[in-house]
Amino acid sequence: MSQSLPETMKAVGLKTYLPIADENSLLDITLPVPKPQGRDLLVKITAVSVNPVDTKVRSPKSKVEENYRVLGWDAVGKVVAVGDDVELFQIGDEVYYAGDITCPGSNSEFQVVDERIAGNKPKSLSDVEAAALPLTGITAAEGLFERLEISEEKSKGKVLLIIGAAGGVGSIAIQLAKQIAGLKVIATASRPESADWCRSLGADLVVNHQQDFTKEIRSQGMQFVDYIFCLNTTAAHWSAMADLIIPQGKICSIVEPEANIDLNLLKSKSASFTWEFMFTRSMYKTCDMIEQHKILNRIADLIDRQQIKTSLNKVLSPINAANLRLAHAEIEAGATIGKIVLSDW
Ligand SMILES: NC(=O)c1ccc[n+]([C@@H]2O[C@H](COP(=O)([O-])OP(=O)(O)OC[C@H]3O[C@@H](n4cnc5c(N)ncnc54)[C@H](OP(=O)(O)O)[C@@H]3O)[C@@H](O)[C@H]2O)c1
Repeated sequence: MSQSLPETMKAVGLKTYLPIADENSLLDITLPVPKPQGRDLLVKITAVSVNPVDTKVRSPKSKVEENYRVLGWDAVGKVVAVGDDVELFQIGDEVYYAGDITCPGSNSEFQVVDERIAGNKPKSLSDVEAAALPLTGITAAEGLFERLEISEEKSKGKVLLIIGAAGGVGSIAIQLAKQIAGLKVIATASRPESADWCRSLGADLVVNHQQDFTKEIRSQGMQFVDYIFCLNTTAAHWSAMADLIIPQGKICSIVEPEANIDLNLLKSKSASFTWEFMFTRSMYKTCDMIEQHKILNRIADLIDRQQIKTSLNKVLSPINAANLRLAHAEIEAGATIGKIVLSDW
């Protein structure tokens, strides 16, 4: 069942993979409105955010797409139609989600998304405030609570080191670790403004990832940390992580290493290394992919109870190729604090 919908929609897409300074790297285009099937929701999008995954997928290469490719994996909007098997949502519900990397992205007026990876938008947030959260929130929650197996019961008072903590993922991870799991959080940031941002979100100690942070942490009386969540340049920080992790501790990275890493460095400590990739569940249609629906609803609840807050730091409007090029350029510079969101068409 659906209300009357247009046949076509605005979108931003690409056929060629060009440097972001090139005006043709992202283009304003018109596409047919997709049709929801099975467990799909058709969502009318009001706000999107931009993540490093967008810039990585868009990175220059010789490949040429036959059809326009739409990027963007973070959206807020209203459900305007549903597939026949939808159980969790109704037309009119406000949702937020990251989506599926194997499907067209959210830089379009309408998008279909599987209901099992969508959540109810936090009621207390505007659409732009909510759009900052889904991809980074899922990554932080899966990384901390599933891969590192942090829990309030067994982890309270233990020490977590977050490397690259002022970015999108770190901004949620600091809050979940500190406010929800009761950990002591050491954040890394290299500039006064990014260090202040980490402190404002609850970091107990901020150390500089451009300097010898092992020495800085040890000068505070901590020989080891219990958990490490690596959100940047895994290989560059690998020896420091292997040195700092406590015997039998756990390290999780979300970033493919830029060079090989030596797992042998962890052997004498029986320390574990684990990956977190937030698209695993949707990419492989795992039987537990509905966990992402639950994570998003849990984050919405924490927001509405004011236990954590949005990581929104910058808004651009409208959603078009020119503004998406600005956001991509900023993300590519590697110094984003919190999240950049685009709103309205
Ligand atoms: N596996 C997954 O599921 C998944 C999910 C989300 C993101 N990711 C990846 O994880 C990374 C972080 O994502 P994000 O959204 O948090 O990125 P982001 O917002 O772009 O991160 C920006 C932050 O990175 C910090 N940074 C820059 N150089 C650094 C270095 N050498 N060491 C440590 N930190 C550094 C900066 O801090 P300062 O300004 O203080 O230097 C800045 O605040 C990206 O590579 C992204 O693609 C993976």
